[in-house]
Amino acid sequence: MKRIFSGVQPTGNLHLGNYLGAIRNWVHLQDDFECIFCVVDLHAITVWQEPGELTAHTREVTAGLLASGIDPEKHIVFNQSQVSCHAELAWIFNCVARLGWLNRMTQFKEKAGKHKENASVGLYAYPNLMAADILLYKATHVPVGEDQKQHLELARDIAAKFNNDFSKDVFPLPEPLIFGEATRVMSLKDGTKKMSKSDPSELSRINMTDDADTIVKKIRKARTDAEPLPETAKELEGRAEALNLVGIYAALEGITADDVLAKVAGEGFAVFKQQLADLAVSKLGPIQDEMRRLMADPGYVDGVLKDGALRAYDLAQPNLEEVHEVIGFLRS
Ligand code: TYM
Repeated sequence: MKRIFSGVQPTGNLHLGNYLGAIRNWVHLQDDFECIFCVVDLHAITVWQEPGELTAHTREVTAGLLASGIDPEKHIVFNQSQVSCHAELAWIFNCVARLGWLNRMTQFKEKAGKHKENASVGLYAYPNLMAADILLYKATHVPVGEDQKQHLELARDIAAKFNNDFSKDVFPLPEPLIFGEATRVMSLKDGTKKMSKSDPSELSRINMTDDADTIVKKIRKARTDAEPLPETAKELEGRAEALNLVGIYAALEGITADDVLAKVAGEGFAVFKQQLADLAVSKLGPIQDEMRRLMADPGYVDGVLKDGALRAYDLAQPNLEEVHEVIGFLRS
């Protein structure tokens, strides 16, 4: 059986990186896999979240998934905290993963910054919870953006160590699925930094809730260089901002960066940015309209999450029972 698990944090607005790097790929994978998509609110609280905003963002992210084309009836969409098995298995993995493994995680270093001592313990153990999310369902494939690759390697290490420690093939080793022209969408203001919810500059990212005027403005203000566009993607080496905009165009249109350049070679950025803005508005507009409609109906969104949580629990519980038995926990 091929089963997908993937997640997105409700830590802020969904942005174009989340959409092109992950969610759009999830939509295409629905035909070939049994899919479980999770709004990972337990991960979100590894850094401070205002309670009201956490609730609102959980609904917004869910609306984004549904509006993008995720089918919550054929597949499962839920928020992590409604299925307590995630936290339970994460504790067990806290006892499987080694400190040395977690010390190598670059995302912790980036997020904790210079004030490591003040970071929450949860932020440090974050990858163990992510491994629990995936392995709780014995997922075989995990579609993510490039930035999650190291966490997935850790999930594989945890699965392998657990299986080896208990001499039993309990967990499959999950395969990362990282594909498309936008596996790493960069900031519109700095082509060396990834587009991220935590960047203080709103101009650095396109949010899925931005209206058409805002999208056009942000693309117009995106950093570029003075050279015209070349004929091939290879020639964009060393031009991070230009490469990023071409990659975004390619991903939105569903073609390769070379195909984009075949159409626009020789153009300057004034023209190309206008074309990119038009494309972004036409591709994102319908999703945004549907998101707004869903966000105006929180009862419906909450119902989807509740139903998804019940179905997720039914899959998770027997697997957690199996883990308990393998470990030797007494069940009366
Ligand atoms: P999160 O919430 O940061 O991002 C959700 C998804 O979006 C992708 N992504 C990007 N892709 C391309 N370019 C970008 N600039 C960009 N920014 C984000 C991410 O790679 C991700 O696929 N730890 C995960 C959530 C998680 C998870 C899981 C994922 C929790 N448990 C289990 C897979 C399986 C995270 O923080 O994603």
